[in-house]
Amino acid sequence: MDALRIRGGAPLSGNIKVSGSKNAALPALAASLLCEGTHELSRVPDLADVKTLLGLLQSMGATSSREKDSVRIDATKVDKLEAPYDLVRTMRASILVLGPLVARFGRAKVSLPGGCAIGARPIDQHLKGLERLGARITLEHGYVLAECGRLRGAEVLFDMPTVTGTENLMLAATLAEGTTVLRNAAREPEITDLADLLATMGARVEGAGSDTITIHGVNKLKPYKHRVVADRIEYGTFLVAGAMAGERLVIEDGVPEHQTALTDKLRDIGARVELDGTRVTVHRATKPKAIDVVTAPYPGFPTDMQAQLMALLAVADGASVITETIFENRFMHVPELSRMGAQVRVDGGKAFVQGTAKLSGTTVMATDLRASACLVLAGLIASGETTVRRIYHLDRGYEQLERKLMSVGARIERFVEA
Ligand code: EPZ
Repeated sequence: MDALRIRGGAPLSGNIKVSGSKNAALPALAASLLCEGTHELSRVPDLADVKTLLGLLQSMGATSSREKDSVRIDATKVDKLEAPYDLVRTMRASILVLGPLVARFGRAKVSLPGGCAIGARPIDQHLKGLERLGARITLEHGYVLAECGRLRGAEVLFDMPTVTGTENLMLAATLAEGTTVLRNAAREPEITDLADLLATMGARVEGAGSDTITIHGVNKLKPYKHRVVADRIEYGTFLVAGAMAGERLVIEDGVPEHQTALTDKLRDIGARVELDGTRVTVHRATKPKAIDVVTAPYPGFPTDMQAQLMALLAVADGASVITETIFENRFMHVPELSRMGAQVRVDGGKAFVQGTAKLSGTTVMATDLRASACLVLAGLIASGETTVRRIYHLDRGYEQLERKLMSVGARIERFVEA
């Protein structure tokens, strides 16, 4: 099984590039189900999750090919309207095929995703929304069965902002008869990117990026041609790496305004972040200050950056409080970080971090995608050597992370553990 070996203490300097967004590429690939013809998606990151979703679409009858960072996908011949458990359980974002399947074919059978390491992550809002649009939803033997004639536009009020819930309903509503209004919609940049993609298909979507999105249904769509937006969580991870060990770390091709909340926090901690268009230069905080942070839906501080920031706060001067409000179990990185000397106490949704002078390298185990990133970041500044095991979690969401970090001076290598 692959692992990473990191020798801490090396400064990070030079230029590092941000790839296309995992969380924008996944709904984009699901959108290919909405019509016949060949879709073209560029800046698609080469990630395990992308491969998983392409495999699911192929199992349904779609065909796809990749040329460098571009993917062509053709869902003309899709005839198996099912997403089986063994695929959905490995990646809950597979639920994004539900909306498009129901919209185009009037039928779908998709496995319930089940929970994951960071929480139960139900899909009740997805199902409630589809029922509002006229789908008949039944749950049988762990599967969602959805069927309808043609979906009808309706008003949908989400109980909470849900990213893939908003995306699923946007996809479904594009082919519904009449107008759909999504209220309390998620505002993440990946939602706006999906709306941009849908516009190239001839869909009529207004208000993406705000909490109210209006979709005027059309009878037919055409294949999209779209370039995926930059991955704001990879960009944020590099920002934190720079705040921890950067000496003029230049991050290119990100979208700085997608990480305003994080950038503000890193400046409060004492890092120097200089913006120049899409080029951002980060200098580490020489004496990181403790701060408090509360995760929130976009544009608030992202839950997907909480673990990474903890690696920095673990060596800040003073006590920090991290409050996780989105997922009920997103502190899985704490026991492993503590083995490196971090002083963290978790009480419900709060982590109390008492900064220490130094972390020390040891062998740690990744438990989920962003927890893995936290451990890699901690290894970059820990004394001695850190081995991060089970980095298949990391490969789900980061494209060649170790190569990118190595190119700016990190002493990091991938190896196969016996
Ligand atoms: C998306 O997950 C992201 N994944 C997650 O990124 C991210 O952490 C999350 O949004 C929050 O920003 C993708 O975009 C593929 P939600 P999603 O629905 O859509 C509750 C990563 O690291 N909820 O916005 O599954 C839910 O339990 C991943 O890249 C319901 O109760 O998250 C959570 O508490 C991890 N019922 C909250 O809403 C529902 O039907 C937000 O979840 C839907 C959600």
